[in-house]
Amino acid sequence: MEKETLARLKKEKDAVILAHYYVDGAVQEIADHVGDSFTLAKIATGIDAKVIVMAGVEFMGETVKILNPEKTVYLPDPDADCPMAHMVDVEAIKEMREKYDDLAVVSYVNSTAEVKAHSDYCLTSSNAAKVVSAIDAKNIFFIPDGNLGHNTEGAFPDKHFINNNGCCPVHDSLTADMVRALKKEHPDAAVFCHPECKAEVLELADYTGSTKGILSAVGELNKDKNIILTEEGIGWELNRLYPDKEFIFPDMICAGMKMVTVDKIIHVLETGDNEVLLDADLIEKAKVPLDRMLAIAS
Ligand code: 13P
Ligand code: SF4
Repeated sequence: MEKETLARLKKEKDAVILAHYYVDGAVQEIADHVGDSFTLAKIATGIDAKVIVMAGVEFMGETVKILNPEKTVYLPDPDADCPMAHMVDVEAIKEMREKYDDLAVVSYVNSTAEVKAHSDYCLTSSNAAKVVSAIDAKNIFFIPDGNLGHNTEGAFPDKHFINNNGCCPVHDSLTADMVRALKKEHPDAAVFCHPECKAEVLELADYTGSTKGILSAVGELNKDKNIILTEEGIGWELNRLYPDKEFIFPDMICAGMKMVTVDKIIHVLETGDNEVLLDADLIEKAKVPLDRMLAIAS
């Protein structure tokens, strides 16, 4: 019934549904495209439909709107948010620009539209090294994720990283001791980790990468048992791709992502509630670092 209602509404409204790997499996199942943050941003630029529903958290809805100002973009739940996106503000960027002449402000896509509008480049966990490689400036103000900044800077000994101290509460809560305990329990399992985790956790992983990277690496390493150190929503796609493999997750759940439901998607399509509305000037400015990322990393 839900599926028929959705199919009818999508047709009536000329709508497409995008979903991140962290939302519930039931939402991934009905989405037209499921992806990591970068893939979703890229897909969003090539959509013909008039309406896009971004099944994810606020910064994802904003990113889709910034890249498609002429389209109507909805968030299924306007309160579904990423706490890390608010762990840096424009004041901090201004202060850093006063301090350093030769500075690039590099913002993880998990940031507010306002922060993007004051940034030079955006990046995601799947293209961080590629984007930084294309930057001439010596000083990199890496915001808001301190872990991703720290986990990226090792490859750039000639650059000076100033890493903001924000973090993803979901990934940052994982410690090396917790991973060691999991490895002890499952000694024959391969370990896959997201770069929003602490460096001490990355050291224990066989592979580190974005959600999309993890999905491919599981196939490449081809172990029967796999410890997955990221948000458990990715389990839906892992089980779909690799039904014969076993996946072990620590308790990593993103409250914001879990607020997205199929009912809420139906609701926004029916009512027009929760449209992402951004000022035209803000969109124009925030689009610059996103376009630079897409040009470098696509
Ligand atoms: P990726 O999809 O880029 O791996 O990002 C993870 C994330 O935290 C999204 O909020
Ligand atoms: Fe934000 Fe972490 Fe949730 Fe991703 S998993 S949306 S970084 S809180």
